[in-house]
Amino acid sequence: MKQDMIGEARRVPQIMCFLKLIAVFAAFGHLHSGAAQKPSTLEDKQFYAKAKKEELLRAFSVEKNCQVAKNVILFVGDGMGLPIITASRIFKGQQAGKPGEETYLNFEKFPHLGLMRTYCVDRQVPDSGCTATALLTGVNGLFMTVGLDAHGKLQDCVRTMRNNQHFPTSIMTHAQRAGKRTGIVTTTRVTHATTAAAFAHTPSRQWESDTHIPEPAAAKCSDISRQLIETEPGRNFNVVLGGGSHNFLPIASGGSRNDSRNLINEWQQNSAQLGRKSRFVTSRNDLLDAARNRSTEFLLGLFHNSHMEFVGDKDAKKSEEPSLGEMTEAAIQILDNKNGFVLLVEGGRIDHALHNNNAKRAILELLAFEEAIDRALKLTKTQETLIIVASDHSHVMSVNGYPKRGNPILGIAGIQPHYKLPYTTLMFANGVGYNYALNSTHVSWRNVTGVKTHDIDFRQQAATFQPEGGETHGGEDVPAYAIGPWAHLVNGVHDLAYIGHVTQFAACLGDYSNTCTGNLLDFSTRSRRLKKC
Ligand SMILES: *[C@@H]1O[C@H](CO)[C@@H](O)[C@H](O)[C@H]1NC(C)=O
Ligand SMILES: *[C@@H]1O[C@H](CO)[C@@H](O)[C@H](O)[C@H]1NC(C)=O
Ligand SMILES: *[C@@H]1O[C@H](CO)[C@@H](O)[C@H](O)[C@H]1NC(C)=O
Ligand SMILES: *[C@@H]1O[C@H](CO)[C@@H](O)[C@H](O)[C@H]1NC(C)=O
Ligand SMILES: [Zn+2]
Repeated sequence: MKQDMIGEARRVPQIMCFLKLIAVFAAFGHLHSGAAQKPSTLEDKQFYAKAKKEELLRAFSVEKNCQVAKNVILFVGDGMGLPIITASRIFKGQQAGKPGEETYLNFEKFPHLGLMRTYCVDRQVPDSGCTATALLTGVNGLFMTVGLDAHGKLQDCVRTMRNNQHFPTSIMTHAQRAGKRTGIVTTTRVTHATTAAAFAHTPSRQWESDTHIPEPAAAKCSDISRQLIETEPGRNFNVVLGGGSHNFLPIASGGSRNDSRNLINEWQQNSAQLGRKSRFVTSRNDLLDAARNRSTEFLLGLFHNSHMEFVGDKDAKKSEEPSLGEMTEAAIQILDNKNGFVLLVEGGRIDHALHNNNAKRAILELLAFEEAIDRALKLTKTQETLIIVASDHSHVMSVNGYPKRGNPILGIAGIQPHYKLPYTTLMFANGVGYNYALNSTHVSWRNVTGVKTHDIDFRQQAATFQPEGGETHGGEDVPAYAIGPWAHLVNGVHDLAYIGHVTQFAACLGDYSNTCTGNLLDFSTRSRRLKKC
């Protein structure tokens, strides 16, 4: 189960690793000298008096925006708990030659945030299926299911179909019914859990193609790829960008489908029949070209047979895959229209790297996710666009020890005095980085003296064993940051499902469409009955 959740293991020839290392050294060499960077100014009493007063003024000047949100962009950093956020901001600062701890990620400057509890209806620690269901539909789900409420049952197609009147409705369906454009963007397979919750209902998140559905369920339950192409709201998405083409292609064409269907062709034929100005693209260049063409209204882009490449593995010269930022920009260019849009953007591989105890790849994924948020902020108006940057769950990484200020975040925190062994600042409670040695009397952990802990392939140490890819999620709350109309509702402690309600309320969708008055399409004059703000 775990292996399948993570996708295929990476196997890079040694020589490639070596070349990559040289490149990484060239890029970040100054960081990894081992020396802790000091702040350029003394952070004394006067420093704090000035800096924090400025922060107070900014906090005072935050105004609540109670207009109807014309556009909603939900960013989901998969597995983006607080420890990896902290580690990424420090890494970012250190790349800029600063100590790092004082650095901000762009979304950390959003005026509003809250904490979201992440449990599934039936699990203390969740998977991304139930949590994505909560985020996209406002209804929490069962572990490993997508788009089902508590009446569902894992892997039980018959029971699921019997209860289909209980299917929660995705915000995408509501948005389409209100005349908005809709889209999904991810670095994973587009049929993977987070994006799947935007359009699918399935008793197993693993049923991405018919091959994954055990007989006899295959006949009754439609796989996730088919749901994307055939049913509402998937078939009406204006933008679908990410990886996972093999789930749309028959085995004979190198895909995974056993039913011999070519769903990409079907999408194209269907679009043509409906007279949609549509395009299917498989490379960065074609994506940028399609987005530049103002008449493109429907865009399907699949850039990898499975998940897209990790940022840390990408060969900038050779890769034909767009970045998450480029996909986000293309999506907004196509979605932006007078009726508004709802867009889901997932930084999907932060999670995958963490499942391997591989903090550096996770950090690079998170910083690419941040860059995508940057583009969205530049391309939209805060006044009319609600942007929420959420996570679906945490991981079991921690930032530990008492390293010096400015100590390289991927480095050694210190030497444990009793064992006289070094340990890294970033460590995991479980995972493949588990590595203990027993001499006749004592157990001790892997000696990382002289080990290049900042290498892309370094696996941080873990306290208990899990196989490759099997580091587990963490169960603590995750933050959600918000800016734009009704962003101030993201405040306090809630469940992830609350985000599904905030987005719908802010845009007057679904159950909340009756809280708005006036001309449905006129966002400038439309006002809420709920005047109090
Ligand atoms: C593939 O299809 C064949 C014929 O329809 C069927 O017998 C077989 O069980 C299917 N295999 C899988 C893995 O679904
Ligand atoms: C733009 O897209 C439309 C519809 O897909 C197509 O007919 C047209 O040729 C494209 N224009 C350019 C300049 O590529
Ligand atoms: C085993 O490890 C412990 C702790 O590092 C050390 O004190 C002891 O001398 C070691 N014993 C042997 C036999 O190496
Ligand atoms: C750890 O490795 C270093 C370098 O190989 C060595 O000098 C040191 O003695 C080792 N420490 C222990 C406790 O084995
Ligand atoms: Zn995960």
